[in-house]
Amino acid sequence: MSRSAKGAALIAALAMAVSVFSQAADETAFTHAERVAVRALAVPPGHTPQEAPDPALADFGQRLFFDPRLSGDGRFSCASCHQPDRAFTDGLALPEAAGRGHRNTPTLINVADNPWFQWDGAADSLWSQMLLVVENPRELANDRLNLAHTLYRNEDLRAAYRRRFGPLPRMSEEPRFPAHGSPQAAPDSLEGRAWRRMAAADQDAVNRVMANLGVALAAWQRRLVRYDSPFDHFAAALADNPDPPPDEAFPAAARRGLKLFIGEAQCTLCHSGPDFSNQAFHNLGVPVTDHRDTGREQGLRRLAASPFNAAGPYAGEESDADRLRFLPPPESLRGAFKTPSLRNVARTAPYFHDGRFATLEAAVRFYLEPPEGETLGQREATLDLIPDLSDRQVADLVAFLKTLDSAPLPEAVTTPPERRSP
Ligand code: HEC
Ligand code: HEC
Repeated sequence: MSRSAKGAALIAALAMAVSVFSQAADETAFTHAERVAVRALAVPPGHTPQEAPDPALADFGQRLFFDPRLSGDGRFSCASCHQPDRAFTDGLALPEAAGRGHRNTPTLINVADNPWFQWDGAADSLWSQMLLVVENPRELANDRLNLAHTLYRNEDLRAAYRRRFGPLPRMSEEPRFPAHGSPQAAPDSLEGRAWRRMAAADQDAVNRVMANLGVALAAWQRRLVRYDSPFDHFAAALADNPDPPPDEAFPAAARRGLKLFIGEAQCTLCHSGPDFSNQAFHNLGVPVTDHRDTGREQGLRRLAASPFNAAGPYAGEESDADRLRFLPPPESLRGAFKTPSLRNVARTAPYFHDGRFATLEAAVRFYLEPPEGETLGQREATLDLIPDLSDRQVADLVAFLKTLDSAPLPEAVTTPPERRSP
């Protein structure tokens, strides 16, 4: 090849490289509008775990969380399903403890600031959520009288309780406190009748014990805060530079996926804010399973009926009872479920309220090819805004979702005191 031919080839190659490069730059650089959208997903600067105002209370909550004595048969604890090394989920489509549940176990990371709890929002506070679990026959399968007796009988629990809340009711006094009983039990069951025979003041005293246990568990769950994922590092870099240098933890596919997520794919219509959830309830037209789960419809009814809601006698003064007065009619939210957080989502498979999708890819494809089957209520029309996405775009969205993994919580938070390595 002559010199000039070589030169021309070199120039052509260079020109091609430049055009490939600028194409790549166009693909990975973020516009002003995109940077604003990313900032809305990033964590406000300085948002670090708040040390519980009462560390002793949070420590008590932590011990309760890992204690199988909370369950009816002493075999299961909260941690049976909310396992620290799986971002506080269980890796199962549906949980298996005292029975087989019919809803997937959600993560507890960053749970404390949520406005509603459970897929259907049946609890309006973190402390009161605990009552739904303890007496659920498929979860801890306990009843509140038995749990109060358990606390009373076990010196360690009894002392820890007393230190923070004062003495327990005198549970040993017969026949004031039957061995088992709950207003949740079937009215004609032994437990249901036992509860109804109790004096109102004694019922109230037992309810108060439950509420206090909930307060302790909530204080501990406030420590489960984590936001430092590769996405957060990328978002911080993006705040200073529209095209941050390549980053192994946030590859080009994730950048494309992020652009889709906040743009064309419309995901932030619902997965917005630092937890990638608008904390609202949406009907996605997910076909029903045998349980015919009505979601928020049922949640609203249970919430209204619960003496542990924010308007009830056990709520603290700071609780917001007003919002209970402005809730929509339950039927209008038939088939709607809470938008889940997508933080740590790569570690919380399977997905959706009924655990129907084993992989992230399948969960994302749901939005493109709505599955056939009977649905409840009205599927939201906003979903039609999501365009058809190519295989590569789906892969890019998944690559982005995988960057939402935060570093593990410190061992002191995830391991109960007696199990910590010295
Ligand atoms: C049998 C497995 C199981 C056990 C045991 C269990 N959970 Fe759960 N947890 C779940 C499932 C499933 C859900 C979703 C329930 C629903 O939406 O109806 C859930 C929901 C929650 C939520 C709401 C999270 C959110 O984002 O809305 C909190 C908080 C929670 N559990 C805390 C606890 C605590 C505290 C305990 C122990 C007292 C506990 N769980 C025991 C399976 C379990
Ligand atoms: C109209 C609101 C809405 C839009 C838009 C939306 N989602 Fe969702 N998303 C939800 C709700 C609600 C659920 C839970 C549905 C259920 O369990 O039945 C969910 C579940 C998920 C899950 C499963 C998470 C888990 O822990 O189970 C993933 C992943 C997900 N969405 C990703 C996306 C992506 C990617 C987009 C954009 C293509 C998107 N979503 C658009 C509301 C929405």
